[in-house]
Amino acid sequence: MNTGRPKHARRAFLQFTAASLAVASLPTFAQSVTAGTKLKIGIIGSGNVGSALGTTWAKSGHTVMFSSLDLEKDKALAAKVGSGARAGTSREAAAFGDVLLIAVPYHALPAVGKDLGALLKGKVVIDACNPFEQRDGELGVKAREVGAGLMSAQLLPGARIVRGFNAIGAARMGAAWQEPGKVGMPIAGDDAQAIATASNLIRDIGYEPVLIGGLAMGRHLQPREPLAGERSADEIRKIAAGLK
Ligand SMILES: NC(=O)c1ccc[n+]([C@@H]2O[C@H](COP(=O)([O-])OP(=O)(O)OC[C@H]3O[C@@H](n4cnc5c(N)ncnc54)[C@H](OP(=O)(O)O)[C@@H]3O)[C@@H](O)[C@H]2O)c1
Repeated sequence: MNTGRPKHARRAFLQFTAASLAVASLPTFAQSVTAGTKLKIGIIGSGNVGSALGTTWAKSGHTVMFSSLDLEKDKALAAKVGSGARAGTSREAAAFGDVLLIAVPYHALPAVGKDLGALLKGKVVIDACNPFEQRDGELGVKAREVGAGLMSAQLLPGARIVRGFNAIGAARMGAAWQEPGKVGMPIAGDDAQAIATASNLIRDIGYEPVLIGGLAMGRHLQPREPLAGERSADEIRKIAAGLK
């Protein structure tokens, strides 16, 4: 059957459907299962990371809503991506998404948490944000001490966070689907259903997700750490086995 999807998307869709049945008790996920095929993804922060991932997810058959502080820019981006992409405010994107990708400078996370408020409750959130002392000031220092995963959970209350896409370059994020499964994607999270949802989306664009542990382990998912860069899933597992 020709569904008009790229091959990688068709295969991922079958994986997605199988996994969906296993986690049908999750309300936001169940909605997507009922809808039949596609997830709605709210992109909070449509810069290097948000635009790359949003574009790739849209191309693989999902529907994305780009958002940032500049709606006109997001409208232009959505128009460029075409079918499967739209633009809105951050709150509109959060309400729209079955799943959210948050990709903002770490120092903006408190504002995002406040702005989205109750919209985050129970929502699966892929957290691509990294704290840097130099860029993010005191919050960057604190997040490095506490660990990025646990800190993000404090800043985004109610969200079911999975850290992912933290330590590969944005410029490569749209390329993995060309060789599906070749590059692994280390992730960390505490919520099994959120992890299953995020894993499907990650696979859908060509990466092999590798769970390295709970949110506390999310501190290892940032640049300049041993897991940074593009590695196979096996390499990631070997490195992660030596991390505490
Ligand atoms: N660049 C990479 O290769 C890479 C790779 C992995 C992870 N990361 C991490 O991912 C995050 C995003 O990186 P990036 O390179 O994509 O940054 P970026 O290009 O600067 O984009 C940041 C986006 O966040 C938006 N934003 C800022 N404050 C916001 C707020 N309060 N509410 C909603 N949107 C807000 C910005 O909107 P405006 O443009 O309207 O200001 C922009 O769209 C960072 O934490 C970074 O460390 C980056």
